Amino acid sequence: MTEDGTQTRTPMLRASRLVKEFGSKRGPLQRRAGFRAVDDVSFTVDRGETLALVGESGSGKSTTARLIARLLDPTSGSIEFEGVEVSSLAARQLRPYRSQVQVVFQDPFSSLNPKHSAEQIITAPRRHLGLPMPTGASAFARDLMARVGLDPDHSTRRPAQFSGGQAQRIGIARALAVSPKLIICDEAVSALDVSVQAQVINLLKRLQAEEGFAYVFIAHDLAVVRQIATRVAVMSQGRIVESGERDAVFDAPRHPYTRELLAAVPRIDPEWDAHRRANSPFAGQEAAA
Ligand SMILES: Nc1ncnc2c1ncn2[C@@H]1O[C@H](COP(=O)(O)OP(=O)(O)O)[C@@H](O)[C@H]1O
Ligand SMILES: [Mg+2]
Repeated sequence: MTEDGTQTRTPMLRASRLVKEFGSKRGPLQRRAGFRAVDDVSFTVDRGETLALVGESGSGKSTTARLIARLLDPTSGSIEFEGVEVSSLAARQLRPYRSQVQVVFQDPFSSLNPKHSAEQIITAPRRHLGLPMPTGASAFARDLMARVGLDPDHSTRRPAQFSGGQAQRIGIARALAVSPKLIICDEAVSALDVSVQAQVINLLKRLQAEEGFAYVFIAHDLAVVRQIATRVAVMSQGRIVESGERDAVFDAPRHPYTRELLAAVPRIDPEWDAHRRANSPFAGQEAAA
């Protein structure tokens, strides 16, 4: 217990002061100080929640995702998962973490092996991690395909034989295969048509309700974020400039950059529009725009 009597709790994931510098692509003579794609980023993710990471292209969202997934090594800072420091673990020591944290990428056709069948793709993470499939690989993959809304009889098809939305469902099934506690969706629905997007978002929400895992949900489209986020962190130029509960950030953005992002959302959602007009202290300014 803390002094004010509230329960102290450890977040599932705690990223602290993460920095990722990329060296300049020029030769050593022209080398300048590294460019900071991620600059002193801190956030937490609780069990079962959805933290949305939003911001324009180039703001450092994907780099943050890759750091969290340990696909990149941070220049400095720490990543704690369930109390264990994972930012300094070597590749061999990362196995347990790899089964806890999975990533769904933007483009299913470049993130799924085109030569592999759906079954091979879905079962690959388990095979790589040496995790058993008690019912056999085929039954395991078929079951996951059904759970993400795909026809199990299509388990021998390759990615090119699926539509974009279906291929993304294979990517989701692959992430689910190891029963992760956190799934990072890096613009996972951004490339899909709006109607398909809504279906995949509903699927992501249903799976979360069933399984209780958390999402770090990266998107530049705030209309999408509003449908799924519990909390929102806004990135700009490698930094988190604002974060908070979804409705607080959407209804009363404090940072000018967040207001700019919100103002740029296309007015395709009348319900949200009405909600914003009723709640936003900046509604008057918008009306003038
Ligand atoms: N491997 C890399 N080498 C050099 N620069 C990179 C690399 N990856 C990303 N960057 C740069 O880091 C910045 C942030 O990129 P990224 O994290 O992909 O942003 P976002 O996902 O928000 O669009 C961009 O300026 C990008 O060009
Ligand atoms: Mg990105």
